[in-house]
Amino acid sequence: MADLNDPTTDWWRHAVVYQVYVRSFADSDGDGIGDLPGITARLPHLADLGVDALWLTPFYTSPQHDHGYDVADYKDVDPLFGKLDDADDLIARAHELGLRVIVDVVPNHSSDEHEWFRAALAAEPGSPERARYLFRDSEDGNPPNNWESVFGGPAWTQVDDGQWYLHLFDSTQPDLDWRNPDVPEMFEGVLRFWLDRGVDGFRIDVAHGLFKEASLRDQVLREDEPAGSSHGRTDADSREPKEMVERDARDEPMWDQPEVHEVYRSWHRILDEAGPDRMAVAEAWTSTVESMAAYIRPDELDQTFNFAWLLAEWSAESFAEVITDTLASVESVDASPTWVLSNHDVTRHVTRYGGGEQGLARARAATLAMLALPGSSYLYQGEELGLEQVDVAPEDRQDPSYLRTGEVGRDGCRVPIPWGGTQAPYDFGPGSAQPWIPQPDDWAALTVEAQAADPTSTLAFYRDALRIRRDFAWTAGDKVDVLDLGQDVLAFRRGPLTVVLNCGTTPVELPEGEVLLASGPIDGTLPADTAAWLRA
Ligand code: NOJ
Ligand code: MG
Repeated sequence: MADLNDPTTDWWRHAVVYQVYVRSFADSDGDGIGDLPGITARLPHLADLGVDALWLTPFYTSPQHDHGYDVADYKDVDPLFGKLDDADDLIARAHELGLRVIVDVVPNHSSDEHEWFRAALAAEPGSPERARYLFRDSEDGNPPNNWESVFGGPAWTQVDDGQWYLHLFDSTQPDLDWRNPDVPEMFEGVLRFWLDRGVDGFRIDVAHGLFKEASLRDQVLREDEPAGSSHGRTDADSREPKEMVERDARDEPMWDQPEVHEVYRSWHRILDEAGPDRMAVAEAWTSTVESMAAYIRPDELDQTFNFAWLLAEWSAESFAEVITDTLASVESVDASPTWVLSNHDVTRHVTRYGGGEQGLARARAATLAMLALPGSSYLYQGEELGLEQVDVAPEDRQDPSYLRTGEVGRDGCRVPIPWGGTQAPYDFGPGSAQPWIPQPDDWAALTVEAQAADPTSTLAFYRDALRIRRDFAWTAGDKVDVLDLGQDVLAFRRGPLTVVLNCGTTPVELPEGEVLLASGPIDGTLPADTAAWLRA
């Protein structure tokens, strides 16, 4: 168990953080929707798994148009998920189990049901109420500029008196105007509120948003370039990495503006005041590793998600390149790297790697390589069970991006967790109440209960990996030497550990050393789609 009382550690520098998608983790009251008491009751699963912290997606008061990323009251719990007391209980119980708690903060936009937005609609154009959002007039009956929502369609919606408001996401998520001093002041209060309740850190939603170029000028599009933002081309839908648009050359007046860094400097001070062991991790889809590093300069945030690992194609060369680039960029600002393969916005990695047996073998192998790297790894609920993306029937889809565009959205990675039993709801909640997205019929062998009893299961593999990782995570150092074991093999050494990942199609020789763990069966050599940890 981690020593939560040791203030000297910068615990996040080598943590394994488990993302809990609140709606889909565990349901305590039988309404088919996961909730805070459900999570609290299942915390022993996370302690047994061996993670250091959990990150909770938004559970605040919200009409749930974007499943909580549309916040109506940042300082309260939505009745769907429980009460403030339930949040306190969850935090307290997690701490008893040696688990830190990170909560989401959503500063780019509020819900349209936030009291500020209601007041803005009730007030006149030009009023102080409207000035907390980005209301604009337009002369020709068209939206004030050509920006597209990440979820598809124009980023502007017109209100009854003719003005338009900006929403980079759904129309129920109006963007706040961070040049208005009310806005930073409100969020400083929000951070303090949750710090006082004992949270250990924050995950900052759309951290590269907040400020837009003040002119709100048109985005200049290259001829071959789809309208909209690269943010949307990456996290808001389930397209494969190869379809991603090259970002470096894009004109993006809506993202990554220099003013945003002053906000994170002030948040850094607030976190510091609360204690030496509070942290923040940014969700910042920036175009270059250099601009990513800017968010984690010593006086800003502690970490930023490094989506490059998730976006890398299945090849030793791409993995090696991501490792080298990432380490160089975080080293330039003396920060710690992060790694992630799945989250609630992207296709689960078993499926990205082709699905089925091969997809699972590759997913386990990529995970093992990731967990050996310096820095923290962020895991997404269900990956420890080897879950695949689910093909959710059109009538069950609820992602606002699907509702806006008709394109398959993110529902398939948000299907509720199977805990036990042989049929849906697989103990997700009490009784036979079915969850908010139906679970597949063939998940009986994938439940936590079934896998806990099987030493060859993916769950057993994750537990082994995290247990062994504890022995070296803090002591193996941050230096990684990439080794050349042939072009299909990613191999690196970190302290006493040698890591080999076979991305090719034929078995390869294992280097000298004692095998500590392998991601699949090995037999003298390392088969294709398999990784191993060795001690020299
Ligand atoms: C990123 C979140 O991860 C995603 O789920 C959400 O839809 C957008 N930000 C908007 O808040
Ligand atoms: Mg419930």
